[in-house]
Amino acid sequence: MEKFVIHKAQPLYGHVKISGAKNAALPILAACLLTSEVCILHNVPPLRDVEEMLALLEGFGVKTEFDKTKEMVQLQAGEIISCDAMQAHAQTMRASFLTAGPLLARMQKAKIPMPGGCQIGSRPIDLHLKGFAAMGANHKLEHGLVELNTKNGGLRGKTVYLDFPSVGATENIMMAATLAKGTTRIENAAAEPEICDLAEFLRKMGAQITGDGTDTIVIDGVAALHGAEHTVIPDRIEAGTFMAAAAITGGDIVLEDVKADHLKPVIAKLAESNVKTEILPEGLRVYRKGKLRPIQLKTMPFPGFPTDMQAQFMSIAAVAKGTSVITETVFENRFLHAGELQRMGADIKIDSRSAVIEGVEELTGSKVRATDLRAGAALILSALAAKGETEISDIYHIERGYYHIEEKLRALGAEISRQEDS
Ligand code: EPZ
Repeated sequence: MEKFVIHKAQPLYGHVKISGAKNAALPILAACLLTSEVCILHNVPPLRDVEEMLALLEGFGVKTEFDKTKEMVQLQAGEIISCDAMQAHAQTMRASFLTAGPLLARMQKAKIPMPGGCQIGSRPIDLHLKGFAAMGANHKLEHGLVELNTKNGGLRGKTVYLDFPSVGATENIMMAATLAKGTTRIENAAAEPEICDLAEFLRKMGAQITGDGTDTIVIDGVAALHGAEHTVIPDRIEAGTFMAAAAITGGDIVLEDVKADHLKPVIAKLAESNVKTEILPEGLRVYRKGKLRPIQLKTMPFPGFPTDMQAQFMSIAAVAKGTSVITETVFENRFLHAGELQRMGADIKIDSRSAVIEGVEELTGSKVRATDLRAGAALILSALAAKGETEISDIYHIERGYYHIEEKLRALGAEISRQEDS
C-alpha cells in the first residue's frame, strides 16, 4: 500500500490540465455495449475505475484497446458472449451496474452483482429497477446478484418517474430506452453535465434523445445503434478540487480544458469566500483576494452545489475564520472526512446531515487515512495548508478519480511525494 507525504505549501502558481471526466467516461464506456460496431473515445482518463470498467466489458466479450498516452479507447462489442458480469470486477465498483441497461436493451438479459454499498451510503438501485420493470423487464435478487430479463419482445417505452433525480438511474434507463419499442419519458431525471455528455454520445450512435439537461428526458427507441467517435467532457470535480487548492493556499492558477458553465455552483461558492475566477483565452484563472471567508452550503442535484465537492469545501471551511455550515442532502453518510480533519486540528461538529465548522488559525500535519475518493482529496487540500508534514494512507481511493494528482500538484509548486506505507 502507498501513502502521500505532503508538506505545507507555498501559494500554488501555474497551469494545470484537467483530465476527462470519470463520471462521464464510465457510462459512455457501458453504452458501447449497445452496438456491434466500433466506438472510439477520446480524453478518457487512465484511472483505476476506467480500467475496471474495461475489464468488465471484456468479460462480456467486448474487444477493447486503451492507448493511455493518447487517452484514447477503441471498443467493439461485436459479439456479446456473456451477460454475466465477472464477480471480481463488478463488485469493486458501483458503476458496473451501468452495464445492466445496455445489456438488457441489446441482449434482453443481464446478470450483475448488486453494487456494494460504500462508505458514503447504502447506494440502493431501486430506481434503476423501477425503470427497467416499467419497461417490461423482470428482475430477481439472490446471492448478491441482480438477474434481469425481458419477457417476449424486449423492452417497451414507458414513462418513468424517479423519486430522486438519481444520476445512475437516469443513465441506465436512458441507455435501455434507446433500443426499446416506443417512447420513454424519464421524469424528475438528473441533469448533471455527465448525463448530457452520455446523451450526446448516444445521439452520435443514432439514438433519438431530447431533454437531457432538464428534469424530463424523452427517448424514442430505434431498431439499432451504430458506432461513434466522441470526446469525453472535462472533469468538473477534478477542476473544482484544483480550484479549492488555489483557494486554500492563497495561490493563483489557470485550469486548462475546463467548461466554466459546468462549474457555476463552485465558482459562486468560492466567490463568497473571497476566491475570484476569470475566464482567460488559455483557461479558467482562480485566485484568492484577501482572507478566506466562511461558507454556508447545501449539496443538491445539478445545477445545485455538487455533493462531490462537499468534502473539499469542508477543508476550506476548516481554515476560514468564522463559522461555516455544510449540509449534505444527497448521501446519508458523507462526512467521514470530518474525523480525519479533526485529527489535523479542525473544529467540526456533525449533527446528522449538517456540519458546523469553526475556522482555525492553522491546521497541523498528522497521519490520516483516505476513507473515500473525495474525502481523500479533501485531506490533500488540508495537508497543503497544514503546518508541518501530513501522511495520507489508503491513497488507492484517491487514484480512482484523480489522474496523476501528485504530478499535477507538484507542477504547481506543492511538496507531495508517494511512498511505501509500512
Ligand atoms: C453518481 O453516483 C456519481 N458516480 C457519484 O460520484 C455522485 O456523487 C452521484 O452520482 C451524485 O451526483 C458516478 O457517476 C460513477 P445517485 P450514483 O444515483 O449514480 C439515491 C464520485 O465521487 N438512490 O445520483 O450512484 C442514493 O442512495 C462519485 O465520483 C436511490 O435511492 O448517484 C443517493 O442517496 C461518488 N435509489 C442518491 O440517490 C437508486 O436507485 C444519489 O445517488 C439510486 C440512487
